[in-house]
Amino acid sequence: MRHLMNPMDLSIEELDDLMKVANDIEKNPSKYAHACDGKKLATLFYEPSTRTRLSHEAAMLNLGGSVLGFSEASSSSATKGESVSDTMRTISCYADICAMRHPKEGAPMVASIHSSIPVINAGDGGHQHPTQTLTDLLTIHTLKGRLDNMTIGLCGDLKFGRTVHSLIQSLTRYHGIKFVLISPEELRLPSYIRKDVIEENNIPYEEVITLEDALPELDILYMTRVQKERFFNEDDYLKMKDFYVLNKEKLKLAKDDMYVLHPLPRVNEISVDVDDDPRAAYFKQMQYGVYIRMALILFLLDIHVE
Ligand code: NCD
Repeated sequence: MRHLMNPMDLSIEELDDLMKVANDIEKNPSKYAHACDGKKLATLFYEPSTRTRLSHEAAMLNLGGSVLGFSEASSSSATKGESVSDTMRTISCYADICAMRHPKEGAPMVASIHSSIPVINAGDGGHQHPTQTLTDLLTIHTLKGRLDNMTIGLCGDLKFGRTVHSLIQSLTRYHGIKFVLISPEELRLPSYIRKDVIEENNIPYEEVITLEDALPELDILYMTRVQKERFFNEDDYLKMKDFYVLNKEKLKLAKDDMYVLHPLPRVNEISVDVDDDPRAAYFKQMQYGVYIRMALILFLLDIHVE
């Protein structure tokens, strides 16, 4: 039985297969409509979510399965003091696969140890968000036709942004990648990613503060929200929250074939006047999130569709 805790749990070949299945699902959805008849997905969300929870649920429903779960810790027995391991033992009796989001780093990993069904990490604190990375990779691959030979700018909260940590780790496996890390001093990428992942793999990178300086050389710009919920005090958040605002004017500095991605939700970091630019890919990206999660559910349940 397989779980998905970190995007590196999948080999490059498995990732390629998932992306192929996701592209096929987009073209031929009816072929997959009964692939998971009789199967159940549980979503255990101890932290807020719109896209991640609902796209996992939509994915299972699109495959003919059904869903159960909770969307906040306060409506689960966590409020009575139940441990994640005991909750997981319970859910193993009720569902065939589960997706868990938790504010504590490592909680889905603990759950997986006590689980008899596949567990998907749907985001653990400021640590990892592997299904968002699968979504990001599918989006880049579908739009650019490749995952190698690219300069990728990551902008915003690189310190607490779990989607950034997972995406960087995954991209280090492709040739010709260069990272431009765009953040204020206070929100720089943690050294366990900068040193142990980027430098360890000899990937070229730059750290810059100004978005305008970076824009002209980028093939992909990955914008992120300042992660308010991970700050220790409100004042520090307020100082950072509007540090970057991408707008139509700034986008003039970018290449014509650069794409703007964002895991969403956006707050102010992308102005709405960017939404109708052909380079704005963040709404397509959330649609791809459903296809790749459908492919992932099939993979983890070991279901093959001819
Ligand atoms: C991201 C997350 O939860 O880490 N959202 C998502 O899952 N699409 C990004 C964020 O909340 O900023």
